[in-house]
Amino acid sequence: MTEQILCGARAIAGDLETVFQTIHRTPELGNREHHTAALIRQRLDRLGVEYTPVLDTGTVAVIRGGRPGKTIGFRADIDALPILEDTGLPYASQVPGVMHACGHDFHTAALLGAAELLMARREELRGNVKLFFQPDEEGDGGAARMIAAGCMENPHVDAMLCCHVESGIPTGTVSVRSGPICAASNPFSVTIKGRGTHGAKPHLGADVIVAGAQIITALQTISSRRTSPTEPVVVTVGSFHAGTAGNVLPEEAVFTGILRTMGGPARQRVKDDFRAIVTGIAAGMGVEAEVTIFESYPGCRNDPAMTDLVRRAAAKVLGPEHVLELAEPSLGTDDFGYFSDAAPGCYYYVGVGNESKGFTCPNHNPHFAVDPEALPLAAALHVQTVLDYLNGDA
Ligand code: NI
Repeated sequence: MTEQILCGARAIAGDLETVFQTIHRTPELGNREHHTAALIRQRLDRLGVEYTPVLDTGTVAVIRGGRPGKTIGFRADIDALPILEDTGLPYASQVPGVMHACGHDFHTAALLGAAELLMARREELRGNVKLFFQPDEEGDGGAARMIAAGCMENPHVDAMLCCHVESGIPTGTVSVRSGPICAASNPFSVTIKGRGTHGAKPHLGADVIVAGAQIITALQTISSRRTSPTEPVVVTVGSFHAGTAGNVLPEEAVFTGILRTMGGPARQRVKDDFRAIVTGIAAGMGVEAEVTIFESYPGCRNDPAMTDLVRRAAAKVLGPEHVLELAEPSLGTDDFGYFSDAAPGCYYYVGVGNESKGFTCPNHNPHFAVDPEALPLAAALHVQTVLDYLNGDA
């Protein structure tokens, strides 16, 4: 059975690579993935897969099995990043300043490949497969909006899967983890208001730069002194802006960043600690601070049974020695967490690193490249996982 799936995947490998390269050449930012959506829908039309457009650029497809059963969903994100590509690849981005630097082109091509292989086995499927081509993962979360639009119903989705490329592990491997896998995130913005003055007479003003520096330094104690040493919490200040000249103390300073936790009670506690430290130090230093904390992705937790399903399917497709266990979650974020909150799910990593080709650079980088040889393997793994879930461990 697995050999047949792999054979089928290898037979369409060249075609999948063409699809992948086409998407890579013409990347589109979140909510603007019009050409990508058109390509996906044309492909689904050609395969005879029924689908519904959603949120302008999203698409939900359904492959209805020949026999009744459960429904399993598979998410591929389709958006690119505002990065100027510098890979020098023959199929590099033709859109200046926009690049598939997170492998969403790979995710989309692999899921289209799985759709083709699953259509060929449609009659033997006991249940349905729903394919989510989701816009705007890198922005403010297409996943939540797809769910709000009713995509998890008709047919109701019983379980969810999602793979993400990982260049840190080689082609032909996957890494999995049960439990927490991605962080919950809360972006923040703080505006400190003081009183401007001459740099030689600081006592006549209220210095927002010195106050801001104290606050930013103290914020690191949220993870080092208010959180258990074994609990993952990251407070990152990524921008700090104030002032125009060396001899002028400005009226205002602004810093922004992101709070990352594994969700649950820690998420609220970190937000409370953040406010307390910012406003407390600001008051002590005679300045005012306006704190805005935004709600972003909820984090992502893998269901143990779904993780085991992926683990066993991957052992069949790639060999048990190529299934790696992730010791720790990532403090990165992904809006797949909305799907895995709505149905038991598993988010796992597919190896796309290839040292001989120089494809080892991490994602979100102008030099990031994925190994297209991993495409048929990912598609085969999708199919094996779906078959194991719907038809039992065949
Ligand atoms: Ni990504």
